[in-house]
Amino acid sequence: MAAARLAVLIAALLCCSLARLSRCGGGVGGGGGGQRVQNYTSMFSFGDSLTDTGNLVVSSPLSFSIVGKYPYGMTYFHRPTGRSSDGRLVVDFLAQAFGLPLLQPYLSRGKDVRRGVNFAVGGATAMDPPFFEEIGASDKLWTNLSLSVQLGWFEQLKPSLCSSPKDCKEFFSKSLFLVGEIGGNDYNYAFFKGKSLDDAKSYVPTVAGAVADATERLIKAGALHLVGRGTLPIGCSSAYLTLHPSGNKSDYDATGCLKTYNDFAQHHNAVLQDKLQLLRRSYPEARIMYADYYGAAMSFAQNPKQFGFRHGALRTCCGGGGPYNFNPKASCGVRGSSVCTDPSAYANWDGVHLTEAGYHAIANSILNGPYTSPRLL
Ligand SMILES: *[C@@H]1O[C@H](CO)[C@@H](O)[C@H](O)[C@H]1NC(C)=O
Ligand SMILES: *[C@@H]1O[C@H](CO)[C@@H](O)[C@H](O)[C@H]1NC(C)=O
Ligand SMILES: *[C@@H]1O[C@H](CO)[C@@H](O)[C@H](O)[C@H]1NC(C)=O
Repeated sequence: MAAARLAVLIAALLCCSLARLSRCGGGVGGGGGGQRVQNYTSMFSFGDSLTDTGNLVVSSPLSFSIVGKYPYGMTYFHRPTGRSSDGRLVVDFLAQAFGLPLLQPYLSRGKDVRRGVNFAVGGATAMDPPFFEEIGASDKLWTNLSLSVQLGWFEQLKPSLCSSPKDCKEFFSKSLFLVGEIGGNDYNYAFFKGKSLDDAKSYVPTVAGAVADATERLIKAGALHLVGRGTLPIGCSSAYLTLHPSGNKSDYDATGCLKTYNDFAQHHNAVLQDKLQLLRRSYPEARIMYADYYGAAMSFAQNPKQFGFRHGALRTCCGGGGPYNFNPKASCGVRGSSVCTDPSAYANWDGVHLTEAGYHAIANSILNGPYTSPRLL
């Protein structure tokens, strides 16, 4: 059970990220400030626990879906919502920056879907189940609601968004698509099965290729503004730091993160960016952006105090002890764990996922900073 919980947690961890918020600086709510926010009138998002706003909790009969319980949600919503954080995710800050309602999860959507829907599912993978059968990791799969299933949901929903080609063109000209972060769980599940970094590296072209293929499928369905999101520096996550400790100091960078795992994350991101660049050439009419979650997260990992993270970026707010306050046997929400009183002073929430404050920092740098290219605004 502990292993299953950990798998879930990690799955959730990888899920999200993204970004482009348009000016979240100080607050939410669109407008304000000197910068003009592009007027997107709808937003659709795909991914894993970094972006899920409730689909996993609705879809999973598993009672140990801890993200559906306190203290998840304690900060902003004051109740668990199925988000893997204490509060809002990057996707929420983006929605607020554009003056949109928070995206409703596809599996519990209401009637009005024309302002946006969130298809992301915690634990979701870029690859479909046969890939995991092939590498012998099927038993680690936390959900079958992979990226291709999420795209299928979007295609089913499309007739309720627009009808004629002209109508659709108009609709999609003001719609933003967030693709990912997704793929992190594909690697997590492989690592859980004891696969090596070299094994994982050999999956990168396939996994990053699946994310690029999804982006292309959305463009073919009419999407014009898309943000591909890279993966976070997993070598700085307290889960990886705890599960893969090293006695050799040279395995850690100056920030205290595991170099090999961060190199691996950067490798995935580089391959993904190459593939997005090819898509830009094939579809010049589409605006394909890349949100560098890795760079955005490293900026606060390296200078945590500057972002108000008094406890550094590596220690989790909610956990069960140990050097990083991450204990796989007592992860956040499980008996034996406890939650900090000041989540905004931490970047890391549960070992895998960030706090609302961590996501806010990423959202800000993606909207306003140099971490989205081409620029979001
Ligand atoms: C954004 O566009 C919608 C629909 O065209 C319009 O009703 C709304 O006023 C616009 N908002 C801003 C801030 O420009
Ligand atoms: C995924 O699908 C397979 C085959 O339909 C099924 O056996 C398995 O239980 C499913 N796994 C999850 C986590 O839903
Ligand atoms: C630590 O790792 C470095 C680089 O991999 C290696 O050169 C060195 O021999 C290692 N030191 C120990 C004590 O294992």
